[in-house]
Amino acid sequence: MKDRVAIVTGAARGIGAATAQVLAQKGAKVAVSDIDAGLIEQVVATIQQAGGEAAAFPCDVSHPSETDKLVNDVVSKYGRLDILVNNAGICPRIPVDEMTEEMFDLMFNINLKPVFFLTRAAANVMKLQNWGRVVNISSTAGRIGAMHNSTVYSGTKGGVLAMTKSLARHYAPYNILINAIAPGTVDTRMFANVAAETREEYVETVPLGRFAQPIEIAHSIVHLCSEETTWVTGATLDVNGGVVMV
Ligand SMILES: NC(=O)c1ccc[n+]([C@@H]2O[C@H](COP(=O)([O-])OP(=O)(O)OC[C@H]3O[C@@H](n4cnc5c(N)ncnc54)[C@H](O)[C@@H]3O)[C@@H](O)[C@H]2O)c1
Repeated sequence: MKDRVAIVTGAARGIGAATAQVLAQKGAKVAVSDIDAGLIEQVVATIQQAGGEAAAFPCDVSHPSETDKLVNDVVSKYGRLDILVNNAGICPRIPVDEMTEEMFDLMFNINLKPVFFLTRAAANVMKLQNWGRVVNISSTAGRIGAMHNSTVYSGTKGGVLAMTKSLARHYAPYNILINAIAPGTVDTRMFANVAAETREEYVETVPLGRFAQPIEIAHSIVHLCSEETTWVTGATLDVNGGVVMV
């Protein structure tokens, strides 16, 4: 991936931070982006200490004006843009009867809106290069519906899958490949506040019998961004220890 330039959103921790690190290990220049400006500096420092190239780009992905600026800033610094990983997301667990319109809108604005607007901004650069890779992070919740008070979250993640396919068709003539990853349960902050018995219920559904580590998702994301991936677009890769087999 030498000379490739990548943006990873939600890269302050968890799956995004692991993905930024693997991309950098493989030689990409990585724009480490997140709403948490402090934590991304630490991720950048870790990558640089390991000999990789990275820089911090704070951005709230729910605002298209900010994601447009993110793309402009990255292209100004590195001169090109090859890879986008739409990873930022939130999963507040709220019972159906307690869901508010405000929280519904927030979840769609963070989880789904950038899959359209940030992808479009990035693809406008990738088009000029006739090469691009976009990976959108969905969830098993988007494949088979949610467990445990994540009804609206599952709607956002189902939307990620549908939009991935439509964008893949739209940008295929420009050799921009757009795919989705649907992780199962991953040991990140997203699960930090989940009760022990709920975690056990999740694990009981997993044939491989455990939570994933972020690095296990990152390797699959990076595979879809690689030079070797040339004939896969509009696909969903299930990376979930066997929870979903379709
Ligand atoms: N952890 C899991 O089990 C799991 C399962 C399936 C899918 N996912 C998806 O994987 C992705 C990464 O989640 P994670 O598990 O690493 O969780 P995480 O909470 O550790 O990381 C999410 C990151 O997104 C950032 N973020 C939140 N709102 C943002 C905004 N408005 N703008 C920019 N950044 C923002 C956070 O600051 C955080 O760094 C999410 O899209 C999530 O829905 C996670």
